Amino acid sequence: MASASSIAASIASKTKTKKKHFVAQKVKLFRASDPLLSVLMWGVNHSINELSHVQIPIMLMPDDFKAYSKIKVDNHLFNKENMPSHFKFKEYCPLVFRNLRERFGIDDQDFLNSLTRSAPLNSEAQGRSGARFHTSYDKRYVIKTISSEDVAEMHNILKKYHQFIVECHGNTLLPQFLGMYRLTVDGDETYMIVTRNVFSHRLSVYKKYDLKGSTVAREASDKEKAKELPTYKDNDFINDGQKIYIDEENKKMFLEKLRKDVEVLHFLFLRLHSFTLAFTSFRHPTVFHHPQFLAQLKLMDYSLLVGIHDVERSEQEEVESEDNEAEEEGESDGGGIGTPPDSPSNTLDSTKPLSPGEFDPAIDVYAIKSNDSAPRKEVYFMAVIDILQHYDAKKKAAHAAKTVKHGAGAEISTVNPEQYSKRFYDFITTILS
Ligand SMILES: *[C@@H]1O[C@H](CO)[C@@H](O)[C@H](O)[C@H]1NC(C)=O
Ligand SMILES: *[C@@H]1O[C@H](CO)[C@@H](O)[C@H](O)[C@H]1NC(C)=O
Repeated sequence: MASASSIAASIASKTKTKKKHFVAQKVKLFRASDPLLSVLMWGVNHSINELSHVQIPIMLMPDDFKAYSKIKVDNHLFNKENMPSHFKFKEYCPLVFRNLRERFGIDDQDFLNSLTRSAPLNSEAQGRSGARFHTSYDKRYVIKTISSEDVAEMHNILKKYHQFIVECHGNTLLPQFLGMYRLTVDGDETYMIVTRNVFSHRLSVYKKYDLKGSTVAREASDKEKAKELPTYKDNDFINDGQKIYIDEENKKMFLEKLRKDVEVLHFLFLRLHSFTLAFTSFRHPTVFHHPQFLAQLKLMDYSLLVGIHDVERSEQEEVESEDNEAEEEGESDGGGIGTPPDSPSNTLDSTKPLSPGEFDPAIDVYAIKSNDSAPRKEVYFMAVIDILQHYDAKKKAAHAAKTVKHGAGAEISTVNPEQYSKRFYDFITTILS
């Protein structure tokens, strides 16, 4: 292995780090099975460190919502198995996202630790529509691979989104956007956005639903059901006779938040839709005039993600997995798999241990406990996901053409935003009562 300290030095000089740290630190390398993840870890480390030298401004300026920071690294031969020799890392609107992290109660050093102490894990837990998902190793954050259109759309809504987060003091069921990056490896650009995990970093979810308030084609497919943790949908929820047992107080707070959030989604996407409309009408004048296509342009597609933790069941599972671990111990001790966190206890709030089913509401911000009449002790995790729903003009036209061709039977979810949000909100209200 090449000398780690010389490697660190060469990296440091490339990144124009001003000061040398005299703290005797163990030099660690970012090792992930996927080179992209190594680059992400490297980039987040770089960006958070750089930001820590930038003074927190009194207020954000309009330019901060267009700004970015970029770094190109040509570190031939460095850490070759795990890191590409050439890569670029770009962070969008660094000051805005730092401000958002602060408003969501996330310390930058903790954020850095979560994303870099150990490689992010592959995750299907919140996956949908072919997007790639990872969670940070400590499961606090979700890293989603997004399209360049999503990045453009984020830029369009970021100012209003930020304004809303300020107004609601970060108390929202909308996604908590915490960082957005572009990674360039071998000329390929990958865009990633980091959000807070809707589910818990410690309480496991045994059942999850993606609810939209529509019953058209809203069942999990057989393929989906074969997965370890399938994403069930509206009809499954109804057919399962699923119930969310929460008390009146929590229900009131939750629905009030949801109402505001759904309202704000209109406000966020207002300008965006009129822009898409103008652009598309120029390209596809005939399709444009079809009334169903007009509705299509304003398609909303967000869902309520619901995860259910069963306290007894997961205690049982824990006991079983401990038994298994005890059995397997000593069998295969070789082959260092992955890089375990140096001291994971540091990142957890180790002030007092939590008993089963308990959670820290500052971390598991979406968690709600089941009420006294629930047949089982449960914890629910519920939040709005997939608020970005950009279709490019071509895809949209194709979709609209199909809708026109197949007539009303193919209505899918061609309802306007008002209808969509009303139907959504009404459905969520009924499942909570
Ligand atoms: C993380 O960033 C700091 C500051 O830029 C740098 O000194 C350190 O070497 C980086 N860590 C790794 C593992 O590259
Ligand atoms: C618990 O939740 C259920 C389902 O929403 C509801 O019917 C019941 O009244 C609630 N009980 C209490 C004690 O809040």
